[in-house]
This record gives sequence, structure tokens and C-alpha cells, in this order.
Amino acid sequence: MTEQEILDKISHYKFYHIIQLTDTIATPGNPIYVPAQNLCLQMMEKLDLRDKRVLDVGCRDGLFSFKAESLGAREVIGIDNDLSAPATEFLIPFFNSAVKMVQINLYDMTAARFGLFDIVLFPGVLYHLRYPFWGLKILRDLIKPGGDLIIETAVWRGESRNAFLFCPVGDESPYEPSSCTFFNEKGLRDTLASLGFATYAVEYIPEKGGWRRMRKQWLRQIKTCLSGNRPPIRHVARAVLHCTYRGLDRNSRYISYWEGEHTIHSTIGG
Ligand SMILES: C[S@@+](CC[C@H](N)C(=O)[O-])C[C@H]1O[C@@H](n2cnc3c(N)ncnc32)[C@H](O)[C@@H]1O
Repeated sequence: MTEQEILDKISHYKFYHIIQLTDTIATPGNPIYVPAQNLCLQMMEKLDLRDKRVLDVGCRDGLFSFKAESLGAREVIGIDNDLSAPATEFLIPFFNSAVKMVQINLYDMTAARFGLFDIVLFPGVLYHLRYPFWGLKILRDLIKPGGDLIIETAVWRGESRNAFLFCPVGDESPYEPSSCTFFNEKGLRDTLASLGFATYAVEYIPEKGGWRRMRKQWLRQIKTCLSGNRPPIRHVARAVLHCTYRGLDRNSRYISYWEGEHTIHSTIGG
């Protein structure tokens, strides 16, 4: 394909990801998302993906799926509940890629249909989930014990000592209304731990503005409190987490209580 043919072809599509096609041409995706994507790409490079089965959840145009393939993954499946035509019609054939993309909602995924994965990539989706605990539980059910989960998400920075989930609706979201789930770091780490994940690394995108921005936020918060209004708790930062699934203690009374049937009330009483 000549450069002109590539340019003609990509002009028919709307891209989300910026993906390098040749030395001089990249897909015209949105540059706003690049810092968060780079954080996730860097975390992927620290893993050994050779010969692994990889699942890319919310794969969009396939930036992370193609990266996983280039890092030696044996099989890569990308899923999205709004599959990208630019990826399936243009990028997969262009790269002669073996990435398989499937349109499905995360909540409908089962190990019976897709098998178990060594590595699950979960960038830019958690904060869009209305049912986040169930979404993470589904991911857990798709990962082999010892497997890795890479989460890139927006983390609520309003309070750090307790485990919190900030779950705004409508225009109270710090982003837009489909973005409704913002754990603080402790909330996310603890939730993952209760699902059998150990979190090894959490890395944030350095925030611009530093002290000056924080001071401005504190002043705004104090002003709002003094005026009797609800304090603004919209401050979120992008972070990537590397977790490993340690396997589930199926005998845990809490797992039985939350996910199955149990005898706590009938045997212990109360
Ligand atoms: C913000 S984009 C992130 C794309 C890519 N993962 C990245 O980080 O650059 C979120 C993507 O996840 C998809 N998505 C959101 N909720 C989903 C769900 N419950 N199941 C499957 N895909 C979902 C959206 O359609 C969209 O393509």
C-alpha cells in the first residue's frame, strides 16, 4: 500500500488510538489520552508476554492488543461492547495481525466461552463501569491463578485513609456521565485483595501544577464548605496498577456469603 493509499483509507474512519502505521503515518486518534495510555504501555513492557494468552478489555482500536502481540503473546483477544470498525476493517488486515476482536459486554464474558488468560489488560474501562465490583469479579474468573491484571483507571484523590468508592451520576462526574466509578487507591487495592489479587505496583501520571494547583483546590474547597454547599470531590488522577491473581480461597466464608450460599446465620446464629 502506498502512503497516499494509507492516508485515503484512514480518512474514512474515526480513530480513538494513535497507532503508528509507517515511519511517517499514524492513525489520527485523540492525543488527550496518550499520557494514560503510555503509562499502561510502559507497565506492559515490564511483563513477559511471550507465549501468553492475553485479554484486552475495552480494546477500542487495539493499541494494547497490537502491543501485546508485538511483545510475543501467543493469543490476543480484544473485547469491546462497541467494537471499532477501524480496527476490524483496517488495522488488523493492515498489520496482518492475529488479534481477535469480539463485540461483547465484559459482564457477559465467561471462562466457559473464552477460556482462562495469563494476562488481562483493563485500561480506561473501570471508571466507566456501573457495576464495578461485579466487573472485577468477572475478570478474576477469567484469569489463571498466578496470572497478571493490569488496570489503568482514574483514581479519586479526595481521601486516602479509608477505602472509598466515589460513584457520581450525570454531570457530577469529573469526566462525562458514562464515567461513574472512581475508587480511591485504598478502595481499589482492598477490593482487589478481597477478590484474591495482590497489588505490586501503583504508578500515577505526574500531575501538572503541583503545589499551586493543590492550594487552589483547597481554597475552593474551603470556600464551598463555608458557603454551606457540598464540597467538591472531583479530583481524580490517572494511575496504572499491576496485580497478580493469587487464586481464591473457595472455603472463605465471605466468598461463600458474597458469591454463593452459606451457613453463617444458621450455624453461628444472629
Ligand atoms: C475510554 S475507552 C478506553 C479504550 C482503551 N482501553 C484505552 O485505554 O485506550 C473505553 C472503552 O471500553 C469500552 N467499554 C466500556 N464499558 C465496557 C463494558 N462493560 N464491556 C466492554 N467494553 C466496554 C468502550 O466501548 C470503549 O471502547
